[in-house]
Amino acid sequence: MAPPKAFVFDAYGTLFDVHSVVEAGREITQEPQTLSLTWRQKQLEYTWLRALMGRYEDFWKVTEAALRFTVRRLAITATEAQLGRLMEAYLSLAAFPEVTATLERLKGLPLAILSNGSPRMLEAAVHSSGLGPYLRHVLSVDTVKTYKPSPAVYALGPKALGLPAGEMLFVSSNAWDVAGAKASGYQVCWCNRANATMEELGFRPDLTVERLDQIPGRL
Ligand code: 2OP
Repeated sequence: MAPPKAFVFDAYGTLFDVHSVVEAGREITQEPQTLSLTWRQKQLEYTWLRALMGRYEDFWKVTEAALRFTVRRLAITATEAQLGRLMEAYLSLAAFPEVTATLERLKGLPLAILSNGSPRMLEAAVHSSGLGPYLRHVLSVDTVKTYKPSPAVYALGPKALGLPAGEMLFVSSNAWDVAGAKASGYQVCWCNRANATMEELGFRPDLTVERLDQIPGRL
């Protein structure tokens, strides 16, 4: 793998720990993990379905729709105020423990986020996590009104950074996102935090780590 000239990071699950959303879930259910996992899976399903339907809505709206599905699916009673607090958790996510130190080590090269998140969601999460000073670009799919793994989304990286995808390292914890970025020409690192199984989508990561701070030593 050639030394990358820039790094492009996925956001949710890769830089930002959505666990704080689980904590917010404790207010309405005894099984916040089930709520969080069902909600996250449905959120992603809705991005893929809306992209295929050509019926884009931004990630905030899709995330809220997925939450409303989830509470009905799990027969959870929740007030509008409680649902609002769960949504607000997405605006104040913490970064995983090793993220800041890793970006500090990589900051000699351009660093960017490329995410399904809406501009407002990403701005809030970058602010709450303190990662702003490290990031040259925060790129949202909202620019192209579709979702990952559409090539139109991954094309935002080369366009913003002025480099071919093959000279950049895309980093994601989501195996499907890893396959999508690889299919769009990036060198790709899978940050497999959850010891997940790689997807059968015809593309494999160039590098696999369990935490981001293992990346510098593997380049
Ligand atoms: C992203 O941040 C949803 O994790 C995915 O694009």
